[in-house]
Amino acid sequence: MSYTNILYRIENKICYITINRPDKLNALNKQTIDELSNAFTSANADETVRVIIITGSGEKAFVAGADISEFANFSVEDGKKLSAQGHETLFDHVEKSNKPVIAAVNGFALGGGLELAMSAHIRVASDNAKLGLPEVSLGVIPGYGGTQRLPQLVGKGKAFEMIFTAGMIDANDAKQSGLVNHVTTPAELMAKCEEIAGKIIKNSGQAIGSAIRSVNAGFKTEVDGFKEEIIEFGKCFGTPEFVEGTTAFLDKRKPSFK
Ligand code: COA
Repeated sequence: MSYTNILYRIENKICYITINRPDKLNALNKQTIDELSNAFTSANADETVRVIIITGSGEKAFVAGADISEFANFSVEDGKKLSAQGHETLFDHVEKSNKPVIAAVNGFALGGGLELAMSAHIRVASDNAKLGLPEVSLGVIPGYGGTQRLPQLVGKGKAFEMIFTAGMIDANDAKQSGLVNHVTTPAELMAKCEEIAGKIIKNSGQAIGSAIRSVNAGFKTEVDGFKEEIIEFGKCFGTPEFVEGTTAFLDKRKPSFK
């Protein structure tokens, strides 16, 4: 698939996905969601990719939300479909990625933009970032997982306040609340994400995939996270990476994971 609204490149085992509609503050229209969905599928299938970094182009925004111009005239059924398709094609897809996804939040992360960042496994924000779920100011609620993932990250009380007030918080408040892991200057944002990616890449990709599935299971009601951990833990013993990791430790050398 050739992309119009995103940039996709792979370098040093990292896949960089950049939402590239800076004149619309990288708002997520249908085409962008489809392209992102395709990009995540490709990155997950590509054996040369170990970590995915997602960011927004330009200096102002990560993503300023779902594209309001596309849903302003939607009916109840259209709205339901928009939300369901978004969950399925992109937001759940990112969360379930078997390769770690780091969101480099380089400016506004609002509505669907914050929901996209929250679907990622790790978030790093630049100090000019503003994060929020402004949907109730438009007469809707967050529909791409925001009502579920925000309380998971910041707790119910802070999430309610952010959703009810439709306000934005700055990067330092986001870090204090557990919404982002690190805050950097804009210039240092990508280097910080790459530093984290570099540490991840040294470890077993198969084991990391198992860890993602186990942690995610703990946040689902239809599965038992502890049972999932037992299954994933067991599976690791059948992987060449487990043999390499344990053998390297016993041989007092660094493991070499493919
Ligand atoms: N959907 C569609 N277009 C959007 C958008 C969105 N979510 N967010 C920004 N844009 C567009 C603007 O319409 C504008 O386009 P135009 O130049 O063709 O008029 C362009 O991006 C630049 O935005 P602008 O509002 O002029 O920038 P600003 O610096 O004055 O304000 C924001 C920045 C983020 C505060 C403001 O754009 C905003 O409130 N956006 C909507 C945020 C939102 O409610 N998101 C949740 C959607 S569910």
